[in-house]
Amino acid sequence: MADPLGELTRTHYCGDLSEALVGQTVTLMGWVATRRDLGGMVFLDLRDREGLAQVVARPEVSAAAHAKADQARSEYVVAVIGEVARRETPNPRMKTGAVEVVAREIRILSEAKTPPFPIEDELDTAEDIRLRYRYLDLRRPKLQKALRLRHKIAFEVRRHMDEQGFLEIETPFLTKSTPEGARDYLVPSRVHQGQFYALPQSPQIFKQILMIAGMDKYFQIVRCFRDEDLRADRQPEFTQVDVEMSFPRMESIFGLIEPLFVRLMKLIDVEIQAPFQRMSYAEAMARYGSDKPDLRFGMPIADVTEEMRTLGLATFPDLIAQGAVARAVAAPGLSGGRVKKLNEELWLGRIVPDAHVAKRTLFTLKNTEEAIANLVKKGASESAVRALIAKAGAAADDTVLVGVDAAGPLSMAMGILRLELGRELKLIDEKAFRFLWVTDFPLMELDPKEGRFVSLHHPFTAPTDEDAHLLDSDPGAVRAKAYDLVLNGSEVGGGSIRIHDSAMQAKIFRLLAMTDEEARARFGFFLDALSYGTPPHGGIALGLDRMAMIFAGATSLRDVIAFPKTANATDLMSGSPSDVRDEQLGELGVAVARS
Ligand code: AMO
Repeated sequence: MADPLGELTRTHYCGDLSEALVGQTVTLMGWVATRRDLGGMVFLDLRDREGLAQVVARPEVSAAAHAKADQARSEYVVAVIGEVARRETPNPRMKTGAVEVVAREIRILSEAKTPPFPIEDELDTAEDIRLRYRYLDLRRPKLQKALRLRHKIAFEVRRHMDEQGFLEIETPFLTKSTPEGARDYLVPSRVHQGQFYALPQSPQIFKQILMIAGMDKYFQIVRCFRDEDLRADRQPEFTQVDVEMSFPRMESIFGLIEPLFVRLMKLIDVEIQAPFQRMSYAEAMARYGSDKPDLRFGMPIADVTEEMRTLGLATFPDLIAQGAVARAVAAPGLSGGRVKKLNEELWLGRIVPDAHVAKRTLFTLKNTEEAIANLVKKGASESAVRALIAKAGAAADDTVLVGVDAAGPLSMAMGILRLELGRELKLIDEKAFRFLWVTDFPLMELDPKEGRFVSLHHPFTAPTDEDAHLLDSDPGAVRAKAYDLVLNGSEVGGGSIRIHDSAMQAKIFRLLAMTDEEARARFGFFLDALSYGTPPHGGIALGLDRMAMIFAGATSLRDVIAFPKTANATDLMSGSPSDVRDEQLGELGVAVARS
């Protein structure tokens, strides 16, 4: 039987103890982290949200307290009343290590089974076991710290948005589908059998309607749901800081979000400078092979098509004549053996199949006089070789790595190569926080599988004023008033200035191969709303989980979400998704086709 809490009140958190409290009586409550019996005296390390405190139970101070300490085991919940005393041998590694609590009374409030893994930061326990016992996992200091940081971020966001005149307004979860490129989670309606709500992939349409409704500045820290293939930086339900404002220019959005991040970074004692760097989508793809370049290291990709064409070596001019291009990066410190391995294992083994480039090895050249002379002996033109080295930006002894293939896939493959090399050669400054706005995205691109145009962001994004006239003749060439915010190579936010004209919106739906009937069925309410006096408006959504992950120095979103899903979208603790009773399905008018 556990002891009652009774009238006891906690006076301090474990982590609050310090020398200033010496001589005072305190009441602590927490979990037994460790228990040591040192010949008569029992030491307990007591843990709560704020830290650890050492408790000592001496029989000569209280035989009853000593007996209780003796019974206590790992993860028992106990209350301790005692006096704070200076330790004979302080522990400088512990925040409260200068003092201990000499127990006068101990109550065992709750017993615990032996946990399946120790509650400590450095663990090699498989993640699925930790997720199954998430309540134990969450007791680990690292996760406690991460969730506290997440709270601070959310709190600071609310403060900033409030100060800037934004109203937090809730939008529904039981709603109609908003397309953000993923599948919807559907919820069957009991009242309207055979009909379904969709959980929102984002509040996109509702926030635009709030602008039409004259709310002027909206934000919401909101859960979004997307049934898509998961990766380390994606969860099926995740949280956005969702923002919309009326009458903005792109600058208005940047001018709101940049000071927000300056403020948020202070939470982790990092000073950053605004304004942030900006780069067009075209430049990001050409120079970094990615629409979310990691700028914590250099190694830009160079276009060396002309240099490879005139190099004087066979095959390249032919490939280039057939439409291939050549792109190069220059990497320091690669031995001949490493270059060979890199070509076989990394480029041909992992990168090229992913990026769908024809299997062709990288052409490599070390920037040494000897290697240049060798190449010239094989028939290369020295001036072209030197031009290639200069264009690739290679320093002495660097290796120039050149890929030759079709522009689109090659650009992405070179981007992956650049990132892999940056990691492998430890060129990334892990302490740096590099923000970047990527702008001027294409409005839509041709999906070769579906044979139709699809939006790069979503169909509510406005075309740029300069390109709007190309919508009929060359829709693929139209740029959008869209922007992504990239931090250290991760997309932490995305948004756009919206279409605020009903006719333009209908036209865009048509270009996306939606018939007018389909557009009316799906978005008729929205097209109607647009026609009742819509202010120009725009906004952005930031990925709160991703921000917390990067700020906390974590590598998985699961480390900053209290109850995350696994990579195959299950909750191992509660066991969801799960079967439901036939009765429940019957009520909903839903039948499951079991194969
Ligand atoms: P977008 O789809 O770019 O834009 O989402 C905004 C940000 O949300 C984060 N994010 C995710 N985080 C975790 N798991 C996921 N599955 C996931 N998907 C997205 C990313 C991303 O940058 N309605 C638009 C915003 C707008 O136009 O205002 C939208 O949702 O950090």
